[in-house]
Amino acid sequence: MGDIIAMTATRVRADDKRIINNKAVDVNQLIPIKYAWAWQYYLDACANHWMPQEISMQRDIEQWRNPKAFTDDERLAVKRALGFFSTAETIVANNVIMAIYKFITAPECRMYILRQAFEEAIHTHAYGQYMPESLGMDTGELMNMYREVPAIHDKEEFGARLTVDILQPDFETESFSGRSRLLRNLIGYYVVTEGIFFYTTFVMLLSFGRQNRLPGVCEQVQYILRDESMHLNFGLELIHAFIRENQDVWTEEAKAWALEAVKEGVRLEYRHAEDSLPNGLLGLTHQMMKQYVEYIADRRLERLGLPKPYGTSNPFPWMSEVIDLRKEKNFFETRVTEYQTGGTLSWE
Ligand SMILES: [Fe+2]
Ligand SMILES: [Fe+2]
Repeated sequence: MGDIIAMTATRVRADDKRIINNKAVDVNQLIPIKYAWAWQYYLDACANHWMPQEISMQRDIEQWRNPKAFTDDERLAVKRALGFFSTAETIVANNVIMAIYKFITAPECRMYILRQAFEEAIHTHAYGQYMPESLGMDTGELMNMYREVPAIHDKEEFGARLTVDILQPDFETESFSGRSRLLRNLIGYYVVTEGIFFYTTFVMLLSFGRQNRLPGVCEQVQYILRDESMHLNFGLELIHAFIRENQDVWTEEAKAWALEAVKEGVRLEYRHAEDSLPNGLLGLTHQMMKQYVEYIADRRLERLGLPKPYGTSNPFPWMSEVIDLRKEKNFFETRVTEYQTGGTLSWE
């Protein structure tokens, strides 16, 4: 009977590592590191650790219980936002761990993917349990929106569809067609789902925070937005590294597919925004939401080296400030320090 772990006299060389099909070397050896950027993402993500229950929901609860504090449209928009995210976060966690992790064979990339998967669990915890249960919402209504509200269903369906092929037992990444499908999955997952589908809902929720409403929800959304912008940036680096090693799959057809997937994502995202904000809200009009989705889609396409079809300017410059928060203030400093010291064991 052969060993599951084969004995060997040859050691792993960093240069031999590959993003996929890492057969030349052992997938279990993190060191020596080849993809230093991936390792840095892992370290940065761990330094940003947070948990939902650390954030007080007290003021949110008082506001939400006050019948005069929100209009009916505002209440609908908040519920739709939490309903969408509560299941979308679980779907992205499933995608990343069941499809992407399996086929990305560089150990340093897998370290970050494991961290990302845990962050998606934290996001499900925040949106699906901590925020709605604190506010006394009907969690059954929220959890079922992806099966009951068409605009939410269609976005989540788009995300779930991306991995259908990859989850088939015979899926492989050796052939041209297998590698092409994996690339499409990576683009659909990181660029469309992670890079576009969350963003009008972020704008809407954070707009309450700008009026000092729902401060606990908004603080959590800020942490989530910071995590998500790292997921997107890691994903883009991963896609570029994948393409560098598999240049044959980055064909004109693949580029055209990516452009269409982004455009479809823009249509679905805009429709969701329209549906959640039937009459506009908090000074946010449908037109501004559409402009914002187009603006971020252009940014994502630019990062893939593809043409920018929309040429729209950013109607919410404050969103860029929120995303860059870490650079301008010590907003997260206390929390990061607590975790870093809390995690150190003393042997004395
Ligand atoms: Fe997430
Ligand atoms: Fe994510």
